Amino acid sequence: MKERDVLLAAMLGLAIGGCSAPPQRAGQATPAPDVAAPAAGKAALNSGEQVYREVCMACHATGIAGAPKFGNRGDWEKLIAEGQAIVTAHGWVGVRAMPPRGGRPDLTQEEFARAVVWMARSAGADWQDPDAAMLHAIHEEAEDRREELEKKEHDDD
Ligand code: HEC
Repeated sequence: MKERDVLLAAMLGLAIGGCSAPPQRAGQATPAPDVAAPAAGKAALNSGEQVYREVCMACHATGIAGAPKFGNRGDWEKLIAEGQAIVTAHGWVGVRAMPPRGGRPDLTQEEFARAVVWMARSAGADWQDPDAAMLHAIHEEAEDRREELEKKEHDDD
């Protein structure tokens, strides 16, 4: 690691209170907040429905590339059984044709999670907009998932 990177890592570590800093993909300038704190510069978080309409609907309304369809209980049954934290984290990190954060790096984890709730509820789940405990669980799952995926990438080298 270059000296600058070490410094940067140290600063990030401080800034987010000792959580490991999420590794950034090339081309992503600033790390998006990954925790429950409201995003700086945003008046209020968007609702799950707003985020869904703006971002997720493009694929999830019709089920493009195998995306679980809005309102389709069959598509969501297994996901709902897997549980809110896991499914939200996997969508957040990205899975197969599902781009990380639905392709919108500016979304907060909380907004993303709300959109997942909006879709899951359309298909029969009783999930609620995430509280602090749920957001923490999602964050932890997402970190685990990211590590798993990175290990796989390295195995391919
Ligand atoms: C470019 C198309 C696209 C967009 C936009 C998109 N998704 Fe997806 N999503 C997919 C596809 C395709 C899958 C199925 C991936 C698979 O399992 O192969 C998926 C799967 C998921 C899953 C299930 C993850 C799992 O555990 O299998 C969740 C949750 C999800 N999306 C949430 C969202 C949310 C929330 C948004 C909007 C913020 C969004 N998606 C936007 C294509 C998209």
